[in-house]
Amino acid sequence: MTDGQVAPPPRLLMGPGPINVDPRVLRAMSAQLVGQFDPSMTTYMQETAELYRQVFRTANEATVLVDGTARAGVEAALVSLLRPGDRVVVPSFGRFGLLLREIAERCGAAVTTVEVPWGEVVPLDQIEAVVAEVEPKVVAVVHGDTSTTMLQPLDGLGDLCHRYGALLYADVTASLGGNPFEMDAWGLDAASAGLQKCLGGPPGSAPVSLSAAAVEVIDGRRSIEAGIADGGDETLAADARIRSNYLDLGMILDYWGPRRLNHHTEATSMLFAARECARLLLDEGIDTAVDRHRRHGAAMAAGLWALGLDLFGDPAHRMANVVAARIPDGVDGEAVRAELLARFGIEIGTSFGPLHGQVWRVGTMGYNARADAVLTTLAALEQVLRRAGVAVPPGAGVDAAVTVLDEDDGPGTP
Ligand SMILES: Cc1ncc(COP(=O)(O)O)c(C=O)c1O
Repeated sequence: MTDGQVAPPPRLLMGPGPINVDPRVLRAMSAQLVGQFDPSMTTYMQETAELYRQVFRTANEATVLVDGTARAGVEAALVSLLRPGDRVVVPSFGRFGLLLREIAERCGAAVTTVEVPWGEVVPLDQIEAVVAEVEPKVVAVVHGDTSTTMLQPLDGLGDLCHRYGALLYADVTASLGGNPFEMDAWGLDAASAGLQKCLGGPPGSAPVSLSAAAVEVIDGRRSIEAGIADGGDETLAADARIRSNYLDLGMILDYWGPRRLNHHTEATSMLFAARECARLLLDEGIDTAVDRHRRHGAAMAAGLWALGLDLFGDPAHRMANVVAARIPDGVDGEAVRAELLARFGIEIGTSFGPLHGQVWRVGTMGYNARADAVLTTLAALEQVLRRAGVAVPPGAGVDAAVTVLDEDDGPGTP
């Protein structure tokens, strides 16, 4: 114990996020503040926007941070695009699809879901049939849903939506930086993320990007707060405004844009964190980082399988950065997690809804998509499983993971 200062116990966070923050990001967050209109702050904001254009692989001018956790980014996108009564289609394959439905409903939208059982993804033709019938203004979908570990294919979905006059929004919180993602090439109109998964940062900042078509929709509802408007500015009637002030992307764009119209006070330390997360990813190279997640995720999956655990969900559509392993019959899943944490300081994830008590979710993402983190987790889990009465083949998990990592290193690598 210390004299009351924050002193969390050492942990290896191998759940579905958050994960251990990259030390470079922690260092960036400890930098002293500057005023929100300080020229250096303006420069940092512009740089951050440009960095996230690269991270999202987009030319969208409208690329900003929403201050809040990833859910704030989701909510900002939906509340800014949707008016009460607008039709929305939500392809849903897990908890976060249900969240999109709930948020869209709270915006007053008329929501139609296209649902598949957890562990599957939604086929494009099934989405198309519903979009053709409903003619929605927006299709809102999760890319990687950590609740089921499934990765919804988005390539082709943008064209599909545009053929029917709909905008495409995707929640890429859990997938960005660890799985292939192409905002412009896949025709997305809006995307939002968080830092605490593959980007190696803490929760608390939500990068958002909007296409010109999405900005046009928001422009139709732009409103300047009465206290900062000048003569030429329009303040819309209350019922025409975006139904949230804090999450009004029109106002946030005015704050990040050339007018620098004050909205909230930018969360400076989180901006520094978000900026460093993007720099880390771009320094490594997005394709290299995606491949690192693929490789270490595959090693973790092979290790879990070799420990005798069945893996959940359609193997063709698993996210690279999180895998769900079925809890063996007769084993108390929560007791295993508690012992992993108490004895080894390692956290793996529980699960929600229909999967509660059925699977553990094990992440290999961001700073923790590393060989030592994978191998330590598998070695510790083997011990805990054996103590829980599971007949685990000694050393099999680590062995299988090492084999995958070595094979993937290619010839000539020691
Ligand atoms: C796909 C997805 N969307 C949204 C969220 C919500 O993120 P936050 O808890 O940062 O608000 C999560 C968190 O796990 C997520 O995995």
